[in-house]
Amino acid sequence: MPLQRRVSVLFDEQSIAKRNTEIAQSIATRQPKDLLIVAILKGSFMFAADLMRALHHAGLTPQVEFMHLSSYRDATVSSGQVAILKDVESYVRDRDVVLIDDILESGRTIAFAKDLLAARGARVLTCCLLEKPGKRAVSIEADFVGFECPDVFVVGYGMDVAHCFRELPFVGVVEKA
Ligand code: IMP
Ligand code: MG
Repeated sequence: MPLQRRVSVLFDEQSIAKRNTEIAQSIATRQPKDLLIVAILKGSFMFAADLMRALHHAGLTPQVEFMHLSSYRDATVSSGQVAILKDVESYVRDRDVVLIDDILESGRTIAFAKDLLAARGARVLTCCLLEKPGKRAVSIEADFVGFECPDVFVVGYGMDVAHCFRELPFVGVVEKA
């Protein structure tokens, strides 16, 4: 059964589109070589798709790959391990890679992916749509951030709760039932 709860808008479509254009221009300023976008599934698929188009408008010719990671969030597992469910298929050595995720929270997911790609010889920059400050468990900051996000659970624009709400064109907060 799909969830029928209301979602209030936190970041609307226009604000996200404007920010995507700005991020793409910042990436272009760095004059990346052999640019590869690596989107971490599933949450970043919509952001990555829009950012790809914004990068095109900024004059770049990025390629794209996907990496599906899963983090163990069980309270009994303090190490916060990350598992690879799907790996990238292209070579990354000597390429400028921009790693895309939806939310930077503990930082474990993106730190894991960054280390993995760097160990394979990529020059890795990181880009997160949202950043929740004060939640970091590992020392990592994103090179590009869309918006600072309050410490609330958000959905939409690719992000879900129980597999729902990924289709929303904005980022929102699920209202209490
Ligand atoms: P971390 O930085 O390794 O803790 O991972 C952050 C990941 O947790 C994100 O990529 C999301 O998949 C998930 N996440 C964290 N906060 C939220 C939220 O508010 N809504 C939806 N997913 C979230
Ligand atoms: Mg995620």
